[in-house]
Amino acid sequence: MPYAQIAGWGMHVPSRIVPNESFVKMGLNTSDEWIASRTGIEERRLAARNEPTSHMAVRAAQHALYVADAHASDVDLIIVATCTPDHVMPSTASIVQNRLGARRAGALDMNAACSGFVYALAMGAGQIESGRAKQVLVIGADELSIHLNWRDRTTCVLFGDGAGAVLLRATVDPGILASTMGSDGSGADLLMIPGGGSRHPANGNGRANGDRYLRMNGPQIFRWATQMMSRAAEDVIATSGLKPEQIDLFIPHQANLRIIEAMAKRLGLPADKVFSNVGRYGNTSAASIPIALCEALAAGRIDKDDNIVLTSFGAGLSWAALALRWGVNMDLHPSRWTPWRQGFETRVAAMRSAVRRQQRRVRASLDERFRGDQN
Ligand code: UT7
Repeated sequence: MPYAQIAGWGMHVPSRIVPNESFVKMGLNTSDEWIASRTGIEERRLAARNEPTSHMAVRAAQHALYVADAHASDVDLIIVATCTPDHVMPSTASIVQNRLGARRAGALDMNAACSGFVYALAMGAGQIESGRAKQVLVIGADELSIHLNWRDRTTCVLFGDGAGAVLLRATVDPGILASTMGSDGSGADLLMIPGGGSRHPANGNGRANGDRYLRMNGPQIFRWATQMMSRAAEDVIATSGLKPEQIDLFIPHQANLRIIEAMAKRLGLPADKVFSNVGRYGNTSAASIPIALCEALAAGRIDKDDNIVLTSFGAGLSWAALALRWGVNMDLHPSRWTPWRQGFETRVAAMRSAVRRQQRRVRASLDERFRGDQN
């Protein structure tokens, strides 16, 4: 049986930095002191109008392909974990597939909210382990800022936008060791965006009749998450056959520093075994773990053969954890031609896409004329 290993990684965050003070300047009844002390968040990145989820996802994916020295056209499957797709349909993954020029890849979106990336990683690994795919691009990308009510201090200060991606590749050495996923829909109302779906559909103006703003019962999610994160981590460590002391780094979902610290305390972990960057990005939903992974790698916190545990929780309620052995030697030297080749591939993909659209238009107008002649 082949194993699945992370061979490449990348992240993208919007350039617009919004510090806590900006909310005070906007007239919100809050303070930098409250936000920083209750959440650990100091600033977040917010996407511009012309930066949809797919844009961030493509940038993160291109970097992951670059690190892995891989061709987009060799990818078998693209999974985009997101709860803020560009459109209800088509999938954001199809848009990403087209932009990357991944012409052989299947593409789908997966919504498990903030747990989505770990779910998608486990499913992508399953495709490789079963022999159905050799290279799977797994992306976590979210733009929750479009669903924030900027007058609701209990939610708008918590979230940020971003994307992270990894390329999974079939190998002979163990990479993804174990995973666990769970859901408790009895807590669906604790964190939701009620409008825009089939229960509260969008009206004729394209506006959601129901509430399009994110709603959350923060304290209840907080209590549940502090227990769930450690339980899911313990489960996955036991399934992986490792001992807790063999884990070199924990990368938890970055929602609130207090939740991360509570998880570390329950598991008896020293601070240097837990990675956090929530201070700079806030909660980026499905993007939080891949962004944290990229930054942990950039900070030199991960070496070859390290055992890593990812733990996530989110709306659903949903949770997932995954244990992996890092298989990449960090002394990486992607070919200097890779960026050039990627630029070329992207331009060819854009041209191919434009030609296909044109062909479809011509065919449709010929069909119409032909039908007209027959009548
Ligand atoms: O991916 C999953 C996403 N969700 C989460 O992870 C959320 C988990 N929950 C949390 O992180 C925390 O519950 C929050 C950060 C949301 C809130 O922190 P808390 O310590 O649980 O505060 P609280 O909700 O109990 O509120 C305490 C007080 C309230 O005022 P009163 O009723 O005591 O007068 C809130 O209205 O703090 C007030 N408050 C704020 N004050 C200043 C709530 N938000 C703010 C704010 N600025 N931004």
